[in-house]
Amino acid sequence: NSNSAGIRERTLIAVKPDGVQRRLIGQIIQRFEIRGFQLVGLKMLQVSDELLSQHYMSLCKKSFYPSLLHYMTSGPVVAMVWEGNNVVRSSRMLVGNTNPAEAPPGTIRGDFCIHISRNVIHASDSIEMAQKEIALWFQSSELIEWECCDHGNFYQ
Ligand code: PPS
Repeated sequence: NSNSAGIRERTLIAVKPDGVQRRLIGQIIQRFEIRGFQLVGLKMLQVSDELLSQHYMSLCKKSFYPSLLHYMTSGPVVAMVWEGNNVVRSSRMLVGNTNPAEAPPGTIRGDFCIHISRNVIHASDSIEMAQKEIALWFQSSELIEWECCDHGNFYQ
């Protein structure tokens, strides 16, 4: 679970407003749990424009940016931090391509959505971005370090 520097790999996952409204929170959490990842932070929030402008800073010149902000503030979001071996890369595989039309069945987007502008979930795309996004979305006091009493049996 820890790399050579002793840092546990973590990623930011957010169920977007369409995912919340379509009652997909439970199924999404289940896919991360059953894979073996460990939940270390979880909250529901109405995301502010300030947070989104930082989160999507690199996209501010894109034509879809205003509609992306509108979508992401259209209802509450469920933000989570998941931990485990290769969690950043594995989460992107669980989630599927950004454009659901290219996301294979079996992935979250491939199973639950059809349009890029309502793609249900966000997952950090690199370890560096995950660290930045987690610091942006969560206070350190909101993240819980815990260990499974059956640790050895889960290969985490
Ligand atoms: S890009 O253009 O390559 O930088 O964009 P990409 O990496 O594919 O996507 C970055 C985030 O923008 C969202 N996105 C969109 N939202 C709304 N409408 C449209 N057309 C659109 N295109 C891309 C996409 O879902 C990514 O958000 P996250 O939260 O990372 O999934």
